Amino acid sequence: MKLLFIIIFLLPLYFKAQYFELPKLNYSYQALEPYIDAQTMEIHYSKHHAAYVNNLNQSLGKIDQGKISLIDILLKISTKSIAVRNNAGGHYNHSMFWEILNPVIKYKNIRIEELERAIKEDLGNIDSLKSKMNRAASTRFGSGWAWLYVDTDKKLKICSTPNQDNPFMDINPDRGIPILGIDVWEHAYYLKYQNKRSDYLNSIWKLINWEVVSENYIKAIKSPLLAYIEKDSWKPYKEFSILFDQINEEVQKNDFSLLKNKSSELAMNALNLKQSVIPKPFPLDETKKLLDEILKHCNELHKMVNKNTKSDLLNDKLKLIQSLKDKIY
Ligand SMILES: [Fe+2]
Repeated sequence: MKLLFIIIFLLPLYFKAQYFELPKLNYSYQALEPYIDAQTMEIHYSKHHAAYVNNLNQSLGKIDQGKISLIDILLKISTKSIAVRNNAGGHYNHSMFWEILNPVIKYKNIRIEELERAIKEDLGNIDSLKSKMNRAASTRFGSGWAWLYVDTDKKLKICSTPNQDNPFMDINPDRGIPILGIDVWEHAYYLKYQNKRSDYLNSIWKLINWEVVSENYIKAIKSPLLAYIEKDSWKPYKEFSILFDQINEEVQKNDFSLLKNKSSELAMNALNLKQSVIPKPFPLDETKKLLDEILKHCNELHKMVNKNTKSDLLNDKLKLIQSLKDKIY
């Protein structure tokens, strides 16, 4: 009876469970014609994007399932598999692509002037933006994307990425929050434009919904993710932080072996961090003091490890270092 219950009710739920889902396309496949044909849209959305979502769900380890957002995956992509990198990127990039091409969305009280002002200040004018984006897109060898993104100084920048990478990813040299992405994979245009990528690029500008891009811009400049990306791009901070987090995670599971093996390396990373150039947005004096404190306590932690100090005292020291680390905004 119990087995029957599992087969009838629980197994279908298990196989149906999908952590990430294909977002609904709230316009028809024909809606972007004549610039993007219906067949391309149907295959692109229902086959390619759907495959990225399915493969992402299959590629994610059980630990990440249900506990991590898509943006968090992208921000820490260097720690994930190639399959997660390609499919998480594919899912995020295409979700944004359908939105910025969306002919239906209209935002109330949209302040398009803010984006217009930023384009003028950072890129000259809209024609300059289009020509720089087209250059980035047309010179991307093979498959990839061209991006308009907000960098950590809140400036508009343009870049291109290979495959399904994007500016959120910590493996990308140009980092920030993407607000407009153009898909330059052949599957995005080949049925209609064949090898003429430049014709596709000229057409795509007739479809961009600038209200959506403006909304993306306004959200991006207010986002706390910019501060996170700034800190994450500070290489000595990141190296220190990754090792500290690994040690701390094991200690929380009552396993002190990594701490014992790596306390010297952690102190060395803290020294490298203290000697590094503090990036511009961080308050200089306050950050210097915090880095001095972190180094002092990492050296003390190393000495405590060598003296076989009690585990609860080691734990307290790690908590103290964590609190100092958290104060670096
Ligand atoms: Fe695509």
